[in-house]
Amino acid sequence: MTACIVGWSHGKFGKLDGETSESLIVKAASEAIAHAGIEPKDVDVIYVGNMNGGFVRQEFHSSLALQAHPDLRFKPSTRVENACATGSAAIHMGLNTLAAGKARFVLVVGVEKMTELNSAQAGEVLIKASYVAEEATIEAGFAGIFGKITSAYFQRYGDKSDALAKIAVKAHKNGAKNPFAHFQKEFAYDFCRTPSDKNPFVAGPLKRTDCSPVTDGAAAVILTDVGTALGMKQAIAFRATEHVNDFLPMSRRDIIKFEGPQLAWQRALKSAHLDLLDLSFVESHDCFTSAELIEYEAMGLTAPGEGERAIHEGWVERDGKLPVNVSGGLKAKGHPVGATGVSMHVMSAMQLSGTAPEGLQLPKAKLGGVFNMGGAAVANYVSILEPLR
Ligand code: COA
Repeated sequence: MTACIVGWSHGKFGKLDGETSESLIVKAASEAIAHAGIEPKDVDVIYVGNMNGGFVRQEFHSSLALQAHPDLRFKPSTRVENACATGSAAIHMGLNTLAAGKARFVLVVGVEKMTELNSAQAGEVLIKASYVAEEATIEAGFAGIFGKITSAYFQRYGDKSDALAKIAVKAHKNGAKNPFAHFQKEFAYDFCRTPSDKNPFVAGPLKRTDCSPVTDGAAAVILTDVGTALGMKQAIAFRATEHVNDFLPMSRRDIIKFEGPQLAWQRALKSAHLDLLDLSFVESHDCFTSAELIEYEAMGLTAPGEGERAIHEGWVERDGKLPVNVSGGLKAKGHPVGATGVSMHVMSAMQLSGTAPEGLQLPKAKLGGVFNMGGAAVANYVSILEPLR
C-alpha cells in the first residue's frame, strides 16, 4: 500500500450542451480539492487525462486545470493519453510521482467532451485507437472492432446474444439508481434482445443497447501518500495496481482471449494477496456488453467460453457473489473516454467510504476492483482499493 485517494468529485455524465472540456475540468478540479479539505496551493502536481484526437478543437489541455484557481498557476501539469484507459493512465502517473517523492498532493482530472460530434464522426475519432494500418477500414468506428471480436467469440463458443442482452439490462437497472449516469432508466430484456428500429444492429451481432454511448463528462481525484492520508478525513488506499500493455494489432493476438486483461488481474490479485471473490465489487470496462462478458473470463470468474454463466446465474448482479458495474458501468453511466478510468475509481471510492448515492451503496463494500481498458484489450489497468482505516 503506497498511496491513497483522499478527495474526489464526479459530475453528471451525458450530453452536456453548454459545457466545454474547460468548464468540466474546472468544476471537477475545484470540487475534488474542496472534498479533500486541502487548499489549491497544496496541490504539487497535476495530470489531466484527455483522449481527444478531434472530439474538440482544443488539443492542449494541461493548463486548463489551472483555471480552477489562481494558486494553481506555475504548478507542473501534464496531459496524459492512453485511449479509453486514459483516466487510469493519469492516475498511474500520479501514483508514480508520489512514489518518486516528487509530490505530496497530486490532482488528477479525467475529461472528455464527445458530443460536439455526431455518433458517426465520434466513431471516426475512436477508430484511431485501433491499429490503423490494418483495422481502421472496419466500419462503424470502434463498435466495428468489437463487432468483429463478438463475431469471433460467437463462432468459437456459440451465439451469446441472450447473455449480452442480460448484461445490458443489468447495467441499466444499476444505472437507473446513479444520479451521475448518462442514462437513468431501466431497459427491458425484450427490448435489448430484439433488433428493432429503436435498437438496430450497429456492428456484427452488436445492437445499439450493446454499446456504451457517446458522452461528455469529467471526474477528479486527489492522491497522496499513506502517511499524509492518515490525517485526512477520508482515505481509500491502493492495495495493488497493475498496468499491462499488449500488442496493438489484433492480428498478433488471439483477440477473444483478452490475455492482457487476464495478466493484469492475475498480477494485481497476487500482489494484493487476494482471491477474486474476496472483492466486494468490480467496476469493469464494459465499452460493449461483449467486452464485459469476456472480462468475466479474464478476471477469472469463469473458464474461457463460460462467461455467460456469471450473468445467467446472477453472480454479477448487485446482490450476487461478485457485483460487477453497480454504477451502471460505461453502458449506462456513459463513456467519456478520458474521464472513464477516473470515474471508475471515484465510484469505487464512494462505495468503500460508504458515501455512494442512495440506492447505489452496497451494504458491505470492503474491497473494490477496477479494470479499465484502452483499445481492444491493449492498455490494461487494474486497481484494487480498500479503505485505509
Ligand atoms: N445505448 C442505448 N441507447 C442509446 C445509445 C446506447 N449506446 N446511444 C444512443 N441511444 C439512444 C439515444 O438516447 C436516442 O434515444 P431517443 O430516440 O429515445 O432520444 C436514440 O438511441 C438515438 O440516439 P443516436 O445518438 O442518434 O444514436 P446513434 O445510432 O447515432 O448512436 C451508437 C448509437 C451505439 C452508434 C453510439 O452510441 C456509439 O457509437 N457508441 C459507441 C461509442 C464507442 O465506440 N465508444 C468507445 C468504446 S471503446
